[in-house]
Amino acid sequence: MNTMTALAEMQTVPQSAEQPRQRDKRKIADAFSKAAGQYDQLAEAQKRIAQKVLELCPTAGSDESEIESVLDIGCGTGYWTRRLRDQTQARWVTGLDLAEGMLRFADEQSDNQHIQWLCADAEQLPLPAESLDLVFSSLAIQWCNDYHALFSSIARTLKLGGEAHIATLLPGTLCELEQSWAKVDKKTHINRFTDEQTLIHAIRQAGLTLSATDQYCERMFYPDLRAVFDSIKGVGAHYSEGDAGLTGRHSLLTLKQAYETMRRSEGLPVSYQVLILSLRKL
Ligand SMILES: C[S@@+](CC[C@H](N)C(=O)[O-])C[C@H]1O[C@@H](n2cnc3c(N)ncnc32)[C@H](O)[C@@H]1O
Repeated sequence: MNTMTALAEMQTVPQSAEQPRQRDKRKIADAFSKAAGQYDQLAEAQKRIAQKVLELCPTAGSDESEIESVLDIGCGTGYWTRRLRDQTQARWVTGLDLAEGMLRFADEQSDNQHIQWLCADAEQLPLPAESLDLVFSSLAIQWCNDYHALFSSIARTLKLGGEAHIATLLPGTLCELEQSWAKVDKKTHINRFTDEQTLIHAIRQAGLTLSATDQYCERMFYPDLRAVFDSIKGVGAHYSEGDAGLTGRHSLLTLKQAYETMRRSEGLPVSYQVLILSLRKL
């Protein structure tokens, strides 16, 4: 390898490989389980994002190869798992999630005999090697601790030629809330999102090929701070690694004033920096 190539390659590798995070999966699962009953009504931004991922997935009859088995990682209420079954007509569709409450809700919504629900961690998929044609995942992997474990697990379970379409969130997500909290204290109040280069590094290390990426900002607007909180807590997405503890009245007032400085004509903004990854096992 010549020096120029070596330098160019070094620039695509993260400066310091990310250490596995220490998120408490039990707490994450509990938060999502509690949100199961109201998730589909509140998940407006999540629906727009998942729809884009679904559009990347194969449709029955339009591809030369038949899709037999599909996995939805972090399936939540199973809304997209059911859509995946409709679209692909796959014989085996698995909706996998950490949160038992989500899976109970998902099971109540569907009696489709082609769909099964599985309570498990995306980082240790309990599925046979080379058993999946398609992996779909929307807004789940940003809760993982170890991206090498996650992508290795996907690589192991995909068949040769299999594909994965995954939406996740990048740093800058919920930046308005993060900046407002910074006016209150130095604690960690929101999830810390992993950058694109670290994810791509883990994908390549797992032996998967990145066939496409799409990055964009999905911005929602809410009338007030309570509605902003409801849009996050209501869907169970309020876990953060730092224990920020309870917030007093004075802190909330400071937070509200800071957020108000970002108000636009449409309302208070909430930004999601979305990354959609399309992967293949070649
Ligand atoms: C924001 S919800 C997204 C649900 C659904 N995919 C959608 O787009 O509406 C994230 C889901 O990922 C699940 N999740 C988080 N970490 C996970 C992990 N390590 N393994 C499996 N599921 C996980 C959560 O329990 C939750 O149901």
